[in-house]
Amino acid sequence: MALSKSPLRYPGGKQKLAPFIAEILDENNLVNGHYVEPYAGGAGAALELLLSKKVNSIHLNDSSYAIYAFWHSILTDPERFCRSISSTSMNVDEWKIHKEILKHSSDHDIFDVGFSTFFLNRVNRSGVLTGGIIGGQAQSGTWKMDARFTRNDLIRRVETVAKNAHSISISNLDAEEYIMKNTKLLPDNTLIYFDPPYYEKASGLYLNFYRKDDHSRLAEVIQNEVRQKWVLSYDSADQILSLYENRRSFIYDLQYNASTVYKGKEVFVFCDTLNLPDKSSLSYIDIELAKMDSSIHIV
Ligand SMILES: C[S@@+](CC[C@H](N)C(=O)[O-])C[C@H]1O[C@@H](n2cnc3c(N)ncnc32)[C@H](O)[C@@H]1O
Repeated sequence: MALSKSPLRYPGGKQKLAPFIAEILDENNLVNGHYVEPYAGGAGAALELLLSKKVNSIHLNDSSYAIYAFWHSILTDPERFCRSISSTSMNVDEWKIHKEILKHSSDHDIFDVGFSTFFLNRVNRSGVLTGGIIGGQAQSGTWKMDARFTRNDLIRRVETVAKNAHSISISNLDAEEYIMKNTKLLPDNTLIYFDPPYYEKASGLYLNFYRKDDHSRLAEVIQNEVRQKWVLSYDSADQILSLYENRRSFIYDLQYNASTVYKGKEVFVFCDTLNLPDKSSLSYIDIELAKMDSSIHIV
């Protein structure tokens, strides 16, 4: 397992899927092209693909202003960001300051919002921005708030991302708007990976989440409007499987760690024009039920 490239922790972060996406790039002559995440979050897979030189540029979009502010801050002023990582205090009063900044983000400079996002993501349980602090307010647990705030390692990750800033574009749009506006402008040698909020477990994890109608509308937009090759992952809820029933897909197991550890089943869906890797090469993801044959749909 490659070391984590993203400075952010993300429940269900997708860096572990990078080898699979790399195979898709190989199979479709998309190596050295553009790679897009309309729901970027911590963008673990995107960073892994860029740093391993599988793709030449990555495009990260997220509708959360806090997440966008984080990417904006590390890409435009990495030195200041790293100084802040080195010098920040690690106590509950500092945590309260960052909570307040995110609560009133429009009153603050984008850099401060970006740093507060990062701070809370690193010191809160499971990285959830609205969640509680590791070790509790009394800091009496075995793990304290600095458990995931490994300063030197995080500085190294920020510096590595910043060195590649010329290959990273960021935006702060709703994914559907992003599809209609930005992806239309990208060339054919582009792969888009959609990782929308889950159908079932989304609301507790992220600041933004979808309702049923949003998932249905998104399915229409992705299947009817996207010209480039795309892949999508979701929790394998029946409603999601039926929204994409005419596409090829497979279900796999992925271990998550958000608040409580649970075994989640995810579905991968592919656009019709994509050549799929041979499933025998997919041993790095635990595919319980692989249905890669183009004629088989999961019901
Ligand atoms: C499942 S996470 C993505 C995780 C990411 N793949 C990773 O590995 O870190 C979903 C992300 O989508 C963002 N998001 C939620 N609703 C969105 C929307 N309507 N448009 C764009 N981004 C959205 C959230 O802020 C969150 O960062």
